[in-house]
Amino acid sequence: MNKSELFSSISNDLKNKLHLLEDKPEETIESTLKALWLAAAGIPVSAEGSTKLSIPDLTEKQIENLHQLIELRLNNTPLAYITNRQNFMGIELYSDKRALIPRKETELLGRTALELSKRIAKSKGKINVIDVCCGSGNLGIAIAHHNKDCNVYASDISQEAVELTRDNINLLNLNQRIQVKQGNLLSVFETDEFYEKTDMIICNPPYILSSKVQKMDSEITSNEPVLAFDGGMLGIKIIQKLISEAPKFLTSEGWLIFEVGAGQGNFITQLCERSRLYQAIESVSDDSGTARVILAQKLRPSNS
Ligand SMILES: C[S@@+](CC[C@H](N)C(=O)[O-])C[C@H]1O[C@@H](n2cnc3c(N)ncnc32)[C@H](O)[C@@H]1O
Repeated sequence: MNKSELFSSISNDLKNKLHLLEDKPEETIESTLKALWLAAAGIPVSAEGSTKLSIPDLTEKQIENLHQLIELRLNNTPLAYITNRQNFMGIELYSDKRALIPRKETELLGRTALELSKRIAKSKGKINVIDVCCGSGNLGIAIAHHNKDCNVYASDISQEAVELTRDNINLLNLNQRIQVKQGNLLSVFETDEFYEKTDMIICNPPYILSSKVQKMDSEITSNEPVLAFDGGMLGIKIIQKLISEAPKFLTSEGWLIFEVGAGQGNFITQLCERSRLYQAIESVSDDSGTARVILAQKLRPSNS
């Protein structure tokens, strides 16, 4: 069998067996098989990255390896944890069990934050950004990579996530402009170096109701860290803290920008308004018209 015959034969087989998840739309039968094929050939690449490459010829040993990788995938191991790569905003990042696999939907937050960072940097020059709940470091790294005027300070409560972020910082050669620390929310930034000196705080927090987490697809709950999803009884435990604690760290016109779950937008906008800590509160919706990103600009002191 030549390589295109092998590819279409496996591809036909996968049509009946592969369970694709809605929140990883970049993973199709074709991109999954291509990514696994390339991994078997010793070329680690994400599903998205694989679509730009052609498949090489495989040796007998590599074909055996490919079948083992396919078995892993059919047994519910997430693709990104097999290839050890995930693409986020055009950047190939390391991905493994230490942190959540960055989702395509989070690129809406990433793009909105990047645009905002460019707007602030245009008038200010260099700017400081905190990426809290950084996971694999995807948001902070994408912003620093695409905007050379940003210095990023990332943090996560999970030491394993911090280590993965560090590996990704090294991968992208961003050591000069990104630091990462382990700690609970903004606690690691409780110093004069950060008080009122941060232009933008970005966050993709855990926001799923505890009661819903166990009902999520088992491919997710049995592989990705539950800490990354569980937002407490109402799903807003972390978001509430963030809204009240962020202003202390923000410059006089600094912004808090974060992702919310589908259906949480209105309520969380009201939480920001009721806090009386922010002057401008905006939301950004996805293609289906659902608000998924909230931006809140710190309230200027009344005497300025
Ligand atoms: C939804 S994931 C986001 C990861 C990454 N930023 C992304 O967009 O893929 C939430 C992250 O928050 C972290 N986390 C949960 N509770 C936290 C807390 N109290 N303080 C800091 N990080 C926390 C988790 O470890 C996880 O990495």
